[in-house]
Amino acid sequence: MRLILLGAPGAGKGTQATFIKEKFNIPQISTGDMLRAAVAAGTELGIAAKKVMDAGGLVSDDIIIGLVKDRLQQPDCANGYLFDGFPRTTRQADAMKEAGVAIDYVLEIDVPDSAIVERMSGRRVHPGSGRSYHVKFNPPKVEGKDDITGEALVQRDDDKEETVKKRLSVYHDQTEVLLGYYGKWAESGQPGAPKYRKIAGVGPVEE
Ligand code: AP5
Ligand code: ZN
Repeated sequence: MRLILLGAPGAGKGTQATFIKEKFNIPQISTGDMLRAAVAAGTELGIAAKKVMDAGGLVSDDIIIGLVKDRLQQPDCANGYLFDGFPRTTRQADAMKEAGVAIDYVLEIDVPDSAIVERMSGRRVHPGSGRSYHVKFNPPKVEGKDDITGEALVQRDDDKEETVKKRLSVYHDQTEVLLGYYGKWAESGQPGAPKYRKIAGVGPVEE
């Protein structure tokens, strides 16, 4: 199974990815998690990416496309993959098409902007795995601790209200166009076209 999860910042892509990757036994390729790992490791990429991420902007297409192409070479992608937070621009989507990266389903998680700021302000993450919780909507079993490792949860640096608003505007300017990109491709029924499903992201996580 080869999937793309599309949706605004805070729509619940990472949250749903946890279930989907287990169900299909496929790796989650989250470009955001990959960048945060580079930031934590203090690599050259991490240092450059942190500035962009903290400002709510997008890291350059060339860097991201390179990262994803390398990741797809790894053996665990043979059985499929789940893209989370990628592609985010038409250039990234075109690069995957040109490289012949197959996609079975594009799932759009639809959440109105009005719900996003509250989701982000209550989000807590486990840095090691990228697992997301919410203090109110999806609390961990023990406050402040990851359910699986028991390690401490933290707030993301880019979850400040001002940064969230900037990320939302970047989403509307540069990423939302991909809903039509994949929607039209799916409708064309061309060989190799993915199927497209829009899912309401406002119900409970399990739903
Ligand atoms: P990235 O990490 O991809 O962030 P994002 O797309 O902004 O999305 P989030 O991770 O914030 O949200 P999510 O949809 O995963 O929501 P979650 O499940 O956590 O990217 C970060 C940055 O890296 C970007 O800003 C950019 O700078 C850079 N970057 C990454 N990829 C890039 C690319 N391809 N190109 C260029 N730059 C790139 O849920 C959010 C909260 O809501 C949680 O607290 C959760 O518990 C809660 N929640 C989830 N579902 C529900 C529900 N149904 N009801 C109530 N609460 C819920
Ligand atoms: Zn995420």
